[in-house]
Amino acid sequence: MSEPKRYLVTSALPYANGPLHIGHIGGAYLNADIYVRYLRAKGKDVAFICGSDEHGAAITLRAKKEGKTPREIVDYYHGLMKKAFEDFGISFDEYHRTSSEEHREMSQEVFKKLEAQGSFEVETSQQYYDEEAKQFLADRYIMGTCPHCANDKAYGDQCEKCGRSLSPLELIEPKSTLSGSKPVLKETSHWYLPMAHHESWIREYIRDGKLNGQQHHDPKEWKSHVVGQCMSWVDGGLQSRAMTRDLDWGVPVPLPNAEGKVLYVWLDAPIGYITNTKVWAAKNGKNWEDYWKSSDSRLIHFIGKDNIVFHCIIFPIILKEHGDFILPHNVPANEFMNLEGDKISTSRNWAVWLHEYVNEFPGRQDEMRYVLCSIMPEQKDSEFTWTDFRDRVNNELADILGNFVNRVFVLMHKYYNGVIPAVNGEASNAEKSAAAEARRAYDAVGSAIETFKFREALAEAMNIARAGNKLLTETEPWKLMKTDADATARILHACVNLVADAAAALMPFLPFTSKKILSALQVETQGWEEVVQREQIASGHTIGQLPILFEKITDEMVAAQVAKLEASKAAVVHSAKPMLDAIDFESFQKMDIRVVKILEAEAVPKTKKLLKLKIDTGVDQRTVISGIAEHYSPEDVVGKHVLFLANLTPREIKGVKSEGMILMAENASGALSFMVPEREVEAGGQVK
Ligand code: 2FM
Ligand code: ZN
Repeated sequence: MSEPKRYLVTSALPYANGPLHIGHIGGAYLNADIYVRYLRAKGKDVAFICGSDEHGAAITLRAKKEGKTPREIVDYYHGLMKKAFEDFGISFDEYHRTSSEEHREMSQEVFKKLEAQGSFEVETSQQYYDEEAKQFLADRYIMGTCPHCANDKAYGDQCEKCGRSLSPLELIEPKSTLSGSKPVLKETSHWYLPMAHHESWIREYIRDGKLNGQQHHDPKEWKSHVVGQCMSWVDGGLQSRAMTRDLDWGVPVPLPNAEGKVLYVWLDAPIGYITNTKVWAAKNGKNWEDYWKSSDSRLIHFIGKDNIVFHCIIFPIILKEHGDFILPHNVPANEFMNLEGDKISTSRNWAVWLHEYVNEFPGRQDEMRYVLCSIMPEQKDSEFTWTDFRDRVNNELADILGNFVNRVFVLMHKYYNGVIPAVNGEASNAEKSAAAEARRAYDAVGSAIETFKFREALAEAMNIARAGNKLLTETEPWKLMKTDADATARILHACVNLVADAAAALMPFLPFTSKKILSALQVETQGWEEVVQREQIASGHTIGQLPILFEKITDEMVAAQVAKLEASKAAVVHSAKPMLDAIDFESFQKMDIRVVKILEAEAVPKTKKLLKLKIDTGVDQRTVISGIAEHYSPEDVVGKHVLFLANLTPREIKGVKSEGMILMAENASGALSFMVPEREVEAGGQVK
């Protein structure tokens, strides 16, 4: 494949309806940033384009919930996301917004062209309509009972309990979340993209990398999970997709008689890539059409796996139908990143939020970039844990990279006052092999980045620091200095250059650290090729002082982060059970709650959950059956003073008369605990 003249690199436009978390960055932004930083260092012409996706039902729903307008929601989150990207060094050339006037124009232009040339089919169908709110209901606006698992809080597009995709028509007893009323079916017309018409060329494009009979890209360069997912869609037959929706927030369908209809995500978000390129070009004296319409430009989309079909099938169909645009050369989609054993979830607050990380670990964005790149879900889902974060920062960044660079600076200042010494004599084998390894690793970083293997690329970049540490350990210049000044000078001179190489190779991954090291070396940030063919940092050059690069992550920091996650999980679990209606004091007084002493306990045969307890109520002795066997064993409970509801009507459970109920508190994971008086209270003591 011939070298392109320019690169157009995009990252999926994130929805402006919540803050960014590590799963976002590790999915479609950090990898793209590493890629473009590398390309720029190689002197390539690159446009790195992203922006906020400010339309869609998720945003209007959030606005309704918070009593705000969609505009207020997107303004807030656009600002928050833009800042988080900047803080993490995600170096977009343009980060614009889909609610902009420029985007309305561009997306309407694309729609109009496709509509005029007959690329769409208008279809009428029955969709749910809320007669009170007087609007059609987006799938997310309808709730009902899941036909698969009976969860009565399933959404019109998905049941979050069993994870199945649903259509609103499948929901049992559907309800509008806008008014609570039962929605009615009403006819509505929409513009559909008849994807089946495109099946044969899409198959060739994905499977063979061919377009219009010509080789467009090498299909072997695409990730196998991307090709696999697309081929299974194509083989399953491509269904028409609606390109418009009934909603009052979005880009209006630019036709008469289309009131209340907006462009749906397929014709909105990815057109944002085009709009935002145009916005960037206008500001920078570039021609946006060079990037989108010239066959010597290369288009690469970085996305998460939920957007694969979107970017490999739907968007290419739109681009090709439009006629002027190039198609993606590669779509190196990542899989998902999980967090501490669970899926990352915005609604359940199970996430590491970037804006919070920046506050809690100020100036330590490279540490997070390092860890997220090390565990990037390139081929399969991966998992972030705080202990793993600690280990990678401490054992790799601090102990390998930080330690090497620091040792070189310390020795250089100690022996040579920071001035690179003159070099005499021939390099030893250890010196030669360190230089060769650094050179090999440096080249390997480049090839791995070019083939979207960012984990491997980072490991190779770290190998340069490893080679440096090995050289120091093998030659021990701190001892050698006493016996062989020439060898010591050669080794430290070589080490300074290894530090520079490591800093340059790590630049795409750790831009802040790389900059710190290069400025401590007092050398200019170098381009990629220049470093490979660089002149050695010459004798006589003076290096400066090195700031501390990495501090260790302590066990306390890990514990605090884990506790924070647990607390948010608990808050979600407990708030899902709303408080009951108020009762008056008399009603409360009707409950006879007492402290009782447990005298005897035994498991109830043939049950898992039940214990039979004999208790002293201070007034009498009773038998109660209690569902606590999964939380306490009989020997744990005897002798305890616990709270007890004494006047609950007796019931027969498993053939035993149970007189009253032991009171238990439940935590977020469902574990039960006795309620125990804080100071000693004898059996019979009343709770008031
Ligand atoms: O899935 C999403 O997050 C949407 N905001 C669309 C992203 S892809 C797009 F930008 F084309
Ligand atoms: Zn379900």
